[in-house]
Amino acid sequence: MAEFTQSTKLHNVLYDIRGPLLQQAQQMEAEGHRILKLNIGNPAPFGFEAPDAILVDMIKHLPHAQGYTDSRGIFSARTAVVQYYQTRGIQNIHVDDVYLGNGVSELITLSLMALLNNGDEILVPTPDYPLWTASVSLAGGRPVHYLCDEDNEWWPDLEDLEAKITPNTKGIVIINPNNPTGAVYPRHILQGMVDLARRHGLVIFSDEIYEKILYDEAEHINTATLTGDDVLCMTFSGLSKAYRICGYRSGWLAISGPKADAADYLEGINLLANMRLCANAPGQHAIQTALGGHQSIEDLILPGGRLREQRDIAYKMLNEIPGVSVNQAKGALYLFPKLDPEVYPIKSDEKFALDLLRQQKILISHGTAFNWVRPDHFRLVTLPNVKDLEDAIGRIAEFLGGYKP
Ligand SMILES: Cc1ncc(COP(=O)(O)O)c(C=O)c1O
Repeated sequence: MAEFTQSTKLHNVLYDIRGPLLQQAQQMEAEGHRILKLNIGNPAPFGFEAPDAILVDMIKHLPHAQGYTDSRGIFSARTAVVQYYQTRGIQNIHVDDVYLGNGVSELITLSLMALLNNGDEILVPTPDYPLWTASVSLAGGRPVHYLCDEDNEWWPDLEDLEAKITPNTKGIVIINPNNPTGAVYPRHILQGMVDLARRHGLVIFSDEIYEKILYDEAEHINTATLTGDDVLCMTFSGLSKAYRICGYRSGWLAISGPKADAADYLEGINLLANMRLCANAPGQHAIQTALGGHQSIEDLILPGGRLREQRDIAYKMLNEIPGVSVNQAKGALYLFPKLDPEVYPIKSDEKFALDLLRQQKILISHGTAFNWVRPDHFRLVTLPNVKDLEDAIGRIAEFLGGYKP
């Protein structure tokens, strides 16, 4: 019998958010247990609905969305993206600099595949959204992690970042607002990162999918407002989170900066976009409507809004657990609590998450799944309603009370 093994290209590719823990949870569900899943930033199962205007627009366009579109995406949606960035003060993105994708995910992989040769390095934050690390590896590159500093609001440590630049470094990934930490970066940090990119001739990959999910006084600064005409900036965003339509797979990549110098790379992006033919056409039709008019996410993030209340409850309850501390999220849908190693000397945080799942039927994601450097954190999504969150965090506290790692 022939044996089939996976490609060696996958040897360093990890995406544990949907890994063995989820499999265990699914098995427990099949056995009849009710599992509270706090592991994935998917708003729909928690009762968040897409804005009606988006649904109506998509339904109206459905009969005319049967064919392939232009491989970059439909013109009206790309124009809407261009105009959106113009309102944010970014003037140097043109309609052909915008690529629509099946979510940001596809465009992350595609943009790295088009750039990296074997051994090229990309600076990725730790902790990160692990698709970035995985996609760098899949493209033959080497992810090099720069530290985000928990003691300084989880902002990137610019000294660490600079120290990790080598002659092989090709680019810097910025995730802002950040998954998993909830950090939103201030101007001086972003400016520091852009200055490093400028000085060392690096591409910036700016993942801004949570740009509209902000709390308190947090202000989101689009990196492309700082990169100007001399730093190539790949801005990623989409409708999955702020418009609650992950399943429609609608995202974009907008390219700004010295495009003439990058013509060869951009041709590579075009080639890969052509090869995948086009993004899901109905999802493209959601973009123009989403970006204009009333932004319903505001009702969820302002005081009294559901996302804001849930974040506040989770933050308070987690910090009340002995040996647990967490920075307040200024954006996105997550908290990334620390388990004091003196109190909980955990060796494997994946085992910790499995034990919690088995005992309390709660699924969280362990910190090292986000390429965090020590087994002393976990990520929790703040999407469940207050009652479920209270219940879940109460059970986490009970579990930790008796936990012997
Ligand atoms: C930081 C970040 N980037 C990208 C994605 C993927 O988004 P999409 O649904 O657009 O593929 C996610 C999803 O959780 C994310 O957290």
